[in-house]
Amino acid sequence: MQQVKDKEQTRIEKLIHSIPKTEIHLHLEGLVSVDTLWYLISRNKLEFDGINTREDLEQQFDFKSLDEFIWFYINILQNAFRTSEDLKCLITDAKTYLSRNNIVYAEIFFAPSKFVQNGLEFAEMMQILHDGAQKLQSEDNIEIKFIIDVSRSYGIENAEQNLALTLEHLNDSIIGIGLGGSESQGPAELFPSVFKKAIDKGLKVVAHAGEDVDSSSIWNSIKFLKAQRIGHGISARDDAKLIEYLQKTGIPLEICPTSNVFTRKFIQRLEDHPIRLFFDSGINVTLNTDDPTLFNIDLVEEYYNMYNHLDFTIEELFQLMKNTLFATFLPQEKKSALWEKTVAAIKRAGYLAP
Ligand code: ADE
Ligand code: ZN
Repeated sequence: MQQVKDKEQTRIEKLIHSIPKTEIHLHLEGLVSVDTLWYLISRNKLEFDGINTREDLEQQFDFKSLDEFIWFYINILQNAFRTSEDLKCLITDAKTYLSRNNIVYAEIFFAPSKFVQNGLEFAEMMQILHDGAQKLQSEDNIEIKFIIDVSRSYGIENAEQNLALTLEHLNDSIIGIGLGGSESQGPAELFPSVFKKAIDKGLKVVAHAGEDVDSSSIWNSIKFLKAQRIGHGISARDDAKLIEYLQKTGIPLEICPTSNVFTRKFIQRLEDHPIRLFFDSGINVTLNTDDPTLFNIDLVEEYYNMYNHLDFTIEELFQLMKNTLFATFLPQEKKSALWEKTVAAIKRAGYLAP
């Protein structure tokens, strides 16, 4: 039986891999390879309690809550990067992650706050992101754009400063701002001035919401921040009015199922994830991994999980891919061109495109 299942899994994952995909909720730091992170901790001679070997490090990827996860993210993961050379490692890791999953376009968060505290120059970081994006485009034909996470973890002044520096050092690879970090400690209502300024300057705006707090956080991100997409949004599950609103407006949800199991607030098992309910309710659902290394998940595997644990048919997986592509901030003609390529790949695989 196990043998049959393994063969089936291999077949479906091969199929999923063969289709060019997009991802819109992915953190640059969260796709760091374990090798890179361990190398930086060792090379920068950093000492963290209980982390003496590479194995110790991997054992840390187990979290009781979002806040525990964010603590690790800031104090160990981001804290391991001490020079701009260190940051360049993430571009190499992005290339590995994106090509491994046949992702041809991605919108990737980068949260500068801790790096600034550790002495990295904002201008240099923005240049590294831009150079990295250009290198990926020319060498691998993969396009990436960045969304600067101004962060809700350090208060309004820090977020304002992040926006000001982003605007000062803007380049073509930076398309917007986002709000990540501790959702319970940094509510959306604190940040409307930052988001309004960003919108006025032509940036796209998104926000994590309903990942760790009830549906009021999602409503507030729409009302106060004018968020164009919602990161996670899973607490909408308990709010029929919000489900109806999301369905009517088509505001995309950036769903990251395995991430939600890791941070535990609303679900304990993939089978209980509301993505099925949202999809069936006609909400614009997209599929993403969030922090693939820390949650031990690849995008291909996450699509397979939807098939295996949440009864998505192959055709419904293609619909998720289509939703994700059309929820990107790409210009309409690029979306259409990419979708044509996707349809061709779906046909080659012997299926009809949605
Ligand atoms: N930063 C990186 N991953 C995050 C998540 N899942 N929620 C909030 N902030 C994050
Ligand atoms: Zn996230």
